[in-house]
Amino acid sequence: MAGNARVVSRGLIGVSNFYPDRLIDLIIHNEVVPAVNQIETHPFYQQIETQKFLQENKVQIESWGPFAEGKNNIFSNELLLSIAGKYQKTVAQVILRWLTQRGVVAIPKSVRTERMVENFNIFDFELSLEDMNAIISLDTKKSSLFDHRDPDMVKMLGTAKRNT
Ligand SMILES: NC(=O)c1ccc[n+]([C@@H]2O[C@H](COP(=O)([O-])OP(=O)(O)OC[C@H]3O[C@@H](n4cnc5c(N)ncnc54)[C@H](OP(=O)(O)O)[C@@H]3O)[C@@H](O)[C@H]2O)c1
Repeated sequence: MAGNARVVSRGLIGVSNFYPDRLIDLIIHNEVVPAVNQIETHPFYQQIETQKFLQENKVQIESWGPFAEGKNNIFSNELLLSIAGKYQKTVAQVILRWLTQRGVVAIPKSVRTERMVENFNIFDFELSLEDMNAIISLDTKKSSLFDHRDPDMVKMLGTAKRNT
């Protein structure tokens, strides 16, 4: 191999909750780099800067908790309800459509068949640029659920996963 050129392979590796500093460390020290990074992403935590960083590094952003797990009364948020009314869609559909139009892959969770169907039905409408931009106002730029920068929280989550 000539000079400092590296062979980078994007295999079937995905990571989760890797914030930019951890991700770039992983990328620069390995030949096989992640194709996907699954991180908390929803209207209250939009990850706009992180998405740019992931795009620059050719890593697909994937949203976990696209509905903020129902926190902060997301399904009765006034702005989201007003946008949903315009398109005759539900708040859940507006959120999933907004993520999709941003290029964010989403993995919503529901135990109810009718909601799973509802969550798939987002490909027959398109949010206007004005509505896409209006949703930016909901961004708190912080987690609604866990602080992955808190070592005690990371330890608790990691330990809980090992015990299941
Ligand atoms: N990588 C990670 O660290 C991480 C962390 C957390 C979660 N996840 C994953 O992310 C995925 C998302 O799950 P999540 O539970 O965290 O969050 P979520 O998808 O944001 O929220 C799920 C909640 O929304 C409700 N819901 C779903 N569809 C709805 C609809 N159309 N209308 C109204 N309510 C609706 C669900 O209730 P019902 O079930 O009653 O419909 C449930 O209470 C899961 O696959 C999970 O495993 C990953």
